[in-house]
Amino acid sequence: MRFRSRHFISFEKLENNYKKLKEICVDNKIIFMVKANAYGHGVIPIVRHSVEKLGITEFGCASLGEALLLREELYDLEFEIYVFSDVQVELRECAEIYLNRRIIPVISNRDDLDFILNSREFENFPLFIKFNTGMNRLGLEMDKVDEVIRSIRVSGRKSIYHLMTHLSSSSLPIKKNKRNIIQFENFEKIKKAFSDAGIEVERTSIANSGAIEQGAGLGETHVRPGLMMYGPSSMLPQYSDLSLWSGEIISKLETYVISIFDVEKGQPVGYGATPCPSKGKVAIVALGYGDGFTTRYIGTHLYHKDIKGKVVGRVNMDMAQVFFDENSLPDLKVGDSFTLWDHSAERFAEFCKEAKIIPYEVFIGITQRVPKIYS
Ligand SMILES: Cc1ncc(COP(=O)(O)O)c(C=O)c1O
Repeated sequence: MRFRSRHFISFEKLENNYKKLKEICVDNKIIFMVKANAYGHGVIPIVRHSVEKLGITEFGCASLGEALLLREELYDLEFEIYVFSDVQVELRECAEIYLNRRIIPVISNRDDLDFILNSREFENFPLFIKFNTGMNRLGLEMDKVDEVIRSIRVSGRKSIYHLMTHLSSSSLPIKKNKRNIIQFENFEKIKKAFSDAGIEVERTSIANSGAIEQGAGLGETHVRPGLMMYGPSSMLPQYSDLSLWSGEIISKLETYVISIFDVEKGQPVGYGATPCPSKGKVAIVALGYGDGFTTRYIGTHLYHKDIKGKVVGRVNMDMAQVFFDENSLPDLKVGDSFTLWDHSAERFAEFCKEAKIIPYEVFIGITQRVPKIYS
């Protein structure tokens, strides 16, 4: 565990992001996506705060294990939890957990649908189903919607709890991109088929962050934001002008300077003896790939109080080298704290762009060696 390299997480920023989200989604209910340990931010504190202070009551996980952890750790709170992909409803031990712990699986294939519809134990269990409208990953096939409707009828059900689909390209323009247009049209067709068949659909959703940011999918009862709640936009940088999102990064990644020294142009530093680009100073900071600060971050720019430095040489398991040119030297000495990213969404986006990495991966990559501190 580190002592002075820390991942600070601000509940105040989370709350501000939620308020901003509600300004866009005035009438929608929220399913807050908290899979992968709340996108690396620590699922238990994030969900507790979201229920107790923000009044969010529905959450999305990827696996049953994630959902069960929430139920067990947060037994004192009331909320719904959905499992979106790693469902395994047909396994006896999993089925029992769904039934006994009120965890709701999202059904996205015929076998699981038939199992739920034909099982007496699941007779009164909420039916949450997902259709493939063009993403071609998970989902009941839309050309089989009539068969699905028939099976639901035969089972005696008159309604479904939630009908959803997921977009493949919401980081691209929703209104112009052909795939997005087709997926929205297909979802309308599926809803109409249910309505024509007299099966009530209680809730619907289509929008994740990319769509919400563009004000799309808000005609459904629910939206399913993930990334935007943690701050970043999920739109590709070239389309950022289409985004309504102005969230702040809810976290700050901080480390400190273990060593700092003068360097000459061409002077080798660290593993691989990488030559320094010019005369200046190198700060050795206490974060490396063992902390999730990966070798992909070589060459990215980091700032100390607006003075721009650059990650040079190899990133090590425990340390990285940040180079500052002699013409813009920071006021840094051994023991000073050094911030990798703070709450600025612009700087964070710039960092991701330079590293050619998506923000999801940056957050999720931070390892357990870096303590999370909540404020
Ligand atoms: C089904 C589903 N809905 C919503 C989301 C949230 O996506 P985002 O984090 O881009 O908002 C995800 C995440 O992958 C998802 O799988």
